[in-house]
Amino acid sequence: MALADYKTALVTGASSGIGAAVVTALSARGLTVTAAARREERLEALAEETGCVPVVLDLRDTKALYDALGGLEVDILVNNAGLGRGFEALFTVSPEDISATLETNVLAAVHVVRATLPGMVERKRGHIVNIGSIAGLYPIKSSLYGASKGAVHLLSQNLRVELQGSGVRVTEICPGRVETEFFEIAVGEEAAKKAYEGFEVLVPDDVADAILYALDAPWRVNIGRIELTPTEQHVGGVTIAPVEKG
Ligand SMILES: NC(=O)c1ccc[n+]([C@@H]2O[C@H](COP(=O)([O-])OP(=O)(O)OC[C@H]3O[C@@H](n4cnc5c(N)ncnc54)[C@H](OP(=O)(O)O)[C@@H]3O)[C@@H](O)[C@H]2O)c1
Repeated sequence: MALADYKTALVTGASSGIGAAVVTALSARGLTVTAAARREERLEALAEETGCVPVVLDLRDTKALYDALGGLEVDILVNNAGLGRGFEALFTVSPEDISATLETNVLAAVHVVRATLPGMVERKRGHIVNIGSIAGLYPIKSSLYGASKGAVHLLSQNLRVELQGSGVRVTEICPGRVETEFFEIAVGEEAAKKAYEGFEVLVPDDVADAILYALDAPWRVNIGRIELTPTEQHVGGVTIAPVEKG
Protein backbone atom coordinates (compact mmCIF):
# COMPACT_ATOMS: atom_id res chain seq x y z
CA MET A 1 0.00 0.00 0.00
CA ALA A 2 2.11 2.88 -1.23
CA LEU A 3 1.39 5.98 -3.28
CA ALA A 4 0.34 3.95 -6.32
CA ASP A 5 -2.41 2.29 -4.24
CA TYR A 6 -3.81 5.54 -2.85
CA LYS A 7 -6.57 7.13 -4.92
CA THR A 8 -7.75 10.15 -2.95
CA ALA A 9 -6.21 12.86 -0.80
CA LEU A 10 -7.23 15.83 1.33
CA VAL A 11 -4.79 18.71 1.68
CA THR A 12 -5.63 21.48 4.15
CA GLY A 13 -4.07 24.92 3.77
CA ALA A 14 -4.02 24.32 0.03
CA SER A 15 -4.36 27.91 -1.15
CA SER A 16 -0.65 28.75 -0.93
CA GLY A 17 2.86 27.64 -0.05
CA ILE A 18 3.46 24.02 0.94
CA GLY A 19 -0.19 22.99 0.63
CA ALA A 20 -0.51 24.22 -2.96
CA ALA A 21 2.75 22.45 -3.89
CA VAL A 22 1.48 19.17 -2.40
CA VAL A 23 -1.86 19.46 -4.24
CA THR A 24 0.06 19.97 -7.49
CA ALA A 25 2.38 17.01 -6.85
CA LEU A 26 -0.39 14.61 -5.83
CA SER A 27 -2.65 15.65 -8.72
CA ALA A 28 0.24 15.04 -11.11
CA ARG A 29 0.44 11.49 -9.72
CA GLY A 30 -3.19 10.92 -10.72
CA LEU A 31 -4.87 11.23 -7.32
CA THR A 32 -8.20 12.95 -6.78
CA VAL A 33 -7.25 15.73 -4.38
CA THR A 34 -9.61 17.77 -2.24
CA ALA A 35 -8.00 21.13 -1.51
CA ALA A 36 -9.28 23.05 1.53
CA ALA A 37 -8.62 26.64 2.63
CA ARG A 38 -10.46 29.94 3.10
CA ARG A 39 -9.40 31.91 0.00
CA GLU A 40 -11.81 30.87 -2.74
CA GLU A 41 -10.07 32.61 -5.66
CA ARG A 42 -6.76 30.91 -4.90
CA LEU A 43 -8.45 27.52 -4.71
CA GLU A 44 -10.33 28.11 -7.96
CA ALA A 45 -7.05 28.98 -9.71
CA LEU A 46 -5.41 25.84 -8.27
CA ALA A 47 -8.38 23.74 -9.40
CA GLU A 48 -8.04 25.16 -12.89
CA GLU A 49 -4.35 24.28 -12.92
CA THR A 50 -4.41 20.84 -11.31
CA GLY A 51 -7.96 19.49 -11.48
CA CYS A 52 -8.22 19.37 -7.66
CA VAL A 53 -11.59 19.69 -5.92
CA PRO A 54 -11.72 23.00 -4.03
CA VAL A 55 -13.42 23.23 -0.63
CA VAL A 56 -13.72 26.72 0.82
CA LEU A 57 -13.53 26.24 4.56
CA ASP A 58 -12.44 28.07 7.69
CA LEU A 59 -10.98 25.29 9.82
CA ARG A 60 -11.56 27.30 12.99
CA ASP A 61 -15.28 26.76 12.41
CA THR A 62 -15.55 23.26 13.86
CA LYS A 63 -19.12 22.58 12.68
CA ALA A 64 -18.27 23.63 9.12
CA LEU A 65 -15.14 21.45 9.30
CA TYR A 66 -17.11 18.28 10.16
CA ASP A 67 -19.86 19.15 7.67
CA ALA A 68 -17.34 19.55 4.85
CA LEU A 69 -14.82 16.83 5.66
CA GLY A 70 -16.71 14.27 7.73
CA GLY A 71 -18.10 12.32 4.77
CA LEU A 72 -14.97 12.45 2.62
CA GLU A 73 -13.34 9.19 1.61
CA VAL A 74 -9.62 9.96 1.69
CA ASP A 75 -6.61 7.67 1.57
CA ILE A 76 -4.16 10.46 2.33
CA LEU A 77 -4.59 13.39 4.70
CA VAL A 78 -2.00 16.15 4.48
CA ASN A 79 -2.80 18.11 7.64
CA ASN A 80 -0.98 21.25 6.63
CA ALA A 81 -3.01 24.40 7.41
CA GLY A 82 -1.20 26.54 9.93
CA LEU A 83 0.14 29.95 10.82
CA GLY A 84 2.51 31.74 13.14
CA ARG A 85 0.45 34.64 14.43
CA GLY A 86 1.95 35.89 17.71
CA PHE A 87 5.40 34.70 16.65
CA GLU A 88 7.09 37.20 19.00
CA ALA A 89 7.82 36.64 22.71
CA LEU A 90 4.73 35.31 24.49
CA PHE A 91 4.55 38.09 27.05
CA THR A 92 3.82 40.56 24.26
CA VAL A 93 1.37 38.45 22.21
CA SER A 94 -2.30 39.48 21.92
CA PRO A 95 -4.97 37.08 23.23
CA GLU A 96 -6.48 37.00 19.70
CA ASP A 97 -3.21 35.78 18.21
CA ILE A 98 -2.91 33.09 20.89
CA SER A 99 -6.38 31.81 19.96
CA ALA A 100 -5.74 32.04 16.20
CA THR A 101 -2.52 30.03 16.42
CA LEU A 102 -3.74 27.33 18.78
CA GLU A 103 -7.16 26.98 17.14
CA THR A 104 -5.60 26.62 13.68
CA ASN A 105 -2.41 24.65 14.36
CA VAL A 106 -3.68 22.36 17.13
CA LEU A 107 -7.48 22.26 17.50
CA ALA A 108 -8.27 22.21 13.78
CA ALA A 109 -5.47 19.73 13.08
CA VAL A 110 -6.91 17.33 15.66
CA HIS A 111 -10.48 17.79 14.39
CA VAL A 112 -9.40 17.15 10.78
CA VAL A 113 -7.84 13.86 11.87
CA ARG A 114 -10.99 12.98 13.82
CA ALA A 115 -13.17 13.76 10.81
CA THR A 116 -11.22 11.69 8.27
CA LEU A 117 -9.61 8.84 10.23
CA PRO A 118 -12.67 6.60 10.88
CA GLY A 119 -13.03 5.91 7.14
CA MET A 120 -9.32 5.08 6.82
CA VAL A 121 -9.52 2.64 9.72
CA GLU A 122 -12.66 1.06 8.29
CA ARG A 123 -11.03 0.61 4.87
CA LYS A 124 -7.73 -0.46 6.51
CA ARG A 125 -5.97 1.97 4.20
CA GLY A 126 -4.68 5.44 4.91
CA HIS A 127 -1.78 7.77 5.51
CA ILE A 128 -1.81 10.81 7.75
CA VAL A 129 0.88 13.40 7.07
CA ASN A 130 1.02 16.08 9.75
CA ILE A 131 3.01 19.21 9.00
CA GLY A 132 4.94 20.03 12.13
CA SER A 133 8.07 22.15 12.25
CA ILE A 134 11.57 22.11 13.66
CA ALA A 135 9.98 24.57 16.12
CA GLY A 136 8.00 21.64 17.52
CA LEU A 137 11.17 19.67 18.22
CA TYR A 138 13.72 22.26 19.35
CA PRO A 139 13.49 25.49 21.33
CA ILE A 140 13.11 28.68 19.33
CA LYS A 141 12.22 32.22 20.39
CA SER A 142 8.51 31.65 19.84
CA SER A 143 6.82 29.89 22.74
CA LEU A 144 3.36 30.00 21.22
CA TYR A 145 4.24 28.67 17.77
CA GLY A 146 6.66 26.15 19.29
CA ALA A 147 3.97 24.91 21.68
CA SER A 148 1.50 24.50 18.82
CA LYS A 149 3.95 22.47 16.73
CA GLY A 150 5.09 20.53 19.81
CA ALA A 151 1.48 19.40 20.08
CA VAL A 152 1.52 18.30 16.43
CA HIS A 153 4.69 16.32 17.19
CA LEU A 154 3.10 14.32 20.01
CA LEU A 155 -0.18 14.03 18.12
CA SER A 156 1.78 12.29 15.38
CA GLN A 157 3.76 10.07 17.77
CA ASN A 158 0.68 8.99 19.71
CA LEU A 159 -1.42 8.38 16.60
CA ARG A 160 1.27 6.01 15.44
CA VAL A 161 0.81 4.04 18.69
CA GLU A 162 -3.00 4.14 18.58
CA LEU A 163 -3.07 3.05 14.95
CA GLN A 164 -0.82 0.04 15.37
CA GLY A 165 -2.40 -2.78 13.36
CA SER A 166 -4.97 -0.51 11.66
CA GLY A 167 -3.35 -0.24 8.24
CA VAL A 168 -2.99 3.53 8.62
CA ARG A 169 0.50 5.04 8.46
CA VAL A 170 1.52 8.32 10.14
CA THR A 171 4.27 10.72 9.10
CA GLU A 172 5.35 14.01 10.66
CA ILE A 173 7.13 16.47 8.39
CA CYS A 174 9.28 19.04 10.20
CA PRO A 175 10.56 21.74 7.89
CA GLY A 176 12.94 24.53 8.73
CA ARG A 177 12.55 27.80 6.87
CA VAL A 178 10.51 27.64 3.66
CA GLU A 179 9.75 30.63 1.44
CA THR A 180 5.94 30.95 1.57
CA GLU A 181 3.44 33.50 2.87
CA PHE A 182 4.00 32.15 6.38
CA PHE A 183 6.35 34.87 7.65
CA GLU A 184 4.33 37.68 6.08
CA ILE A 185 1.35 36.53 8.14
CA ALA A 186 3.51 35.84 11.21
CA VAL A 187 5.60 39.00 11.40
CA GLY A 188 4.37 41.36 8.64
CA GLU A 189 5.66 42.17 5.17
CA GLU A 190 8.82 44.12 6.05
CA ALA A 191 10.12 41.76 8.74
CA ALA A 192 9.26 38.78 6.51
CA LYS A 193 11.75 39.96 3.87
CA LYS A 194 14.53 39.62 6.48
CA ALA A 195 13.47 36.02 7.19
CA TYR A 196 14.71 35.09 3.71
CA GLU A 197 17.59 37.54 3.29
CA GLY A 198 21.17 36.41 2.83
CA PHE A 199 20.71 32.67 2.70
CA GLU A 200 19.05 30.08 0.52
CA VAL A 201 15.84 28.80 2.09
CA LEU A 202 13.68 25.82 1.16
CA VAL A 203 10.95 26.15 -1.47
CA PRO A 204 7.51 24.49 -1.12
CA ASP A 205 8.42 21.82 -3.71
CA ASP A 206 11.25 20.62 -1.43
CA VAL A 207 8.67 19.84 1.26
CA ALA A 208 6.27 18.28 -1.26
CA ASP A 209 9.12 16.01 -2.42
CA ALA A 210 9.72 14.86 1.17
CA ILE A 211 6.01 14.13 1.60
CA LEU A 212 5.89 12.13 -1.62
CA TYR A 213 8.92 10.14 -0.48
CA ALA A 214 7.08 9.14 2.71
CA LEU A 215 3.87 8.31 0.82
CA ASP A 216 5.75 6.30 -1.79
CA ALA A 217 7.59 4.09 0.71
CA PRO A 218 6.69 0.40 0.42
CA TRP A 219 3.92 -0.76 2.73
CA ARG A 220 6.36 -2.32 5.20
CA VAL A 221 7.99 1.09 5.80
CA ASN A 222 6.49 3.84 7.96
CA ILE A 223 8.48 7.05 7.65
CA GLY A 224 7.76 8.47 11.09
CA ARG A 225 9.41 11.86 10.82
CA ILE A 226 11.34 13.87 8.29
CA GLU A 227 13.30 16.96 9.33
CA LEU A 228 14.46 19.14 6.47
CA THR A 229 16.15 22.50 6.86
CA PRO A 230 18.01 24.74 4.47
CA THR A 231 21.67 23.71 4.29
CA GLU A 232 22.51 27.12 5.71
CA GLN A 233 20.16 26.77 8.73
CA HIS A 234 20.79 24.61 11.76
CA VAL A 235 19.23 24.03 15.15
CA GLY A 236 20.97 23.64 18.50
CA GLY A 237 23.83 25.42 20.19
CA VAL A 238 24.17 27.31 23.44
CA THR A 239 23.71 31.05 23.82
CA ILE A 240 24.78 33.09 26.81
CA ALA A 241 23.02 36.40 27.28
CA PRO A 242 24.27 38.27 30.35
CA VAL A 243 21.61 40.28 32.19
CA GLU A 244 22.30 43.74 33.54
CA LYS A 245 20.91 43.33 37.04
CA GLY A 246 18.28 45.86 38.11
N1 LIG B 1 7.15 28.43 5.94
C1 LIG B 1 7.91 27.89 6.87
O1 LIG B 1 9.08 28.31 7.08
C2 LIG B 1 7.38 26.72 7.67
C3 LIG B 1 8.30 26.00 8.45
C4 LIG B 1 7.85 24.92 9.19
C5 LIG B 1 6.52 24.59 9.17
N2 LIG B 1 5.63 25.31 8.43
C6 LIG B 1 4.22 24.91 8.45
O2 LIG B 1 3.82 24.57 7.13
C7 LIG B 1 2.41 24.68 7.03
C8 LIG B 1 2.05 25.45 5.74
O3 LIG B 1 2.51 26.77 5.85
P1 LIG B 1 3.18 27.58 4.64
O4 LIG B 1 4.59 27.85 5.01
O5 LIG B 1 2.89 26.94 3.36
O6 LIG B 1 2.42 28.99 4.81
P2 LIG B 1 1.26 29.71 3.96
O7 LIG B 1 1.70 29.90 2.56
O8 LIG B 1 0.89 30.90 4.76
O9 LIG B 1 0.07 28.64 3.98
C9 LIG B 1 -0.77 28.44 5.08
C10 LIG B 1 -2.06 27.80 4.59
O10 LIG B 1 -2.92 27.57 5.73
C11 LIG B 1 -4.23 28.00 5.40
N3 LIG B 1 -5.00 28.37 6.59
C12 LIG B 1 -4.63 29.19 7.60
N4 LIG B 1 -5.64 29.34 8.49
C13 LIG B 1 -6.68 28.61 8.01
C14 LIG B 1 -8.02 28.39 8.45
N5 LIG B 1 -8.49 28.95 9.57
N6 LIG B 1 -8.82 27.60 7.69
C15 LIG B 1 -8.35 27.04 6.56
N7 LIG B 1 -7.11 27.20 6.09
C16 LIG B 1 -6.27 28.00 6.80
C17 LIG B 1 -4.02 29.19 4.46
O11 LIG B 1 -5.12 29.35 3.61
P3 LIG B 1 -6.23 30.53 3.70
O12 LIG B 1 -5.55 31.76 4.24
O13 LIG B 1 -6.69 30.67 2.27
O14 LIG B 1 -7.28 29.97 4.58
C18 LIG B 1 -2.82 28.70 3.63
O15 LIG B 1 -3.27 27.93 2.55
C19 LIG B 1 1.93 25.36 8.31
O16 LIG B 1 1.41 24.39 9.18
C20 LIG B 1 3.22 25.95 8.88
O17 LIG B 1 3.15 26.09 10.29
C21 LIG B 1 6.03 26.38 7.68
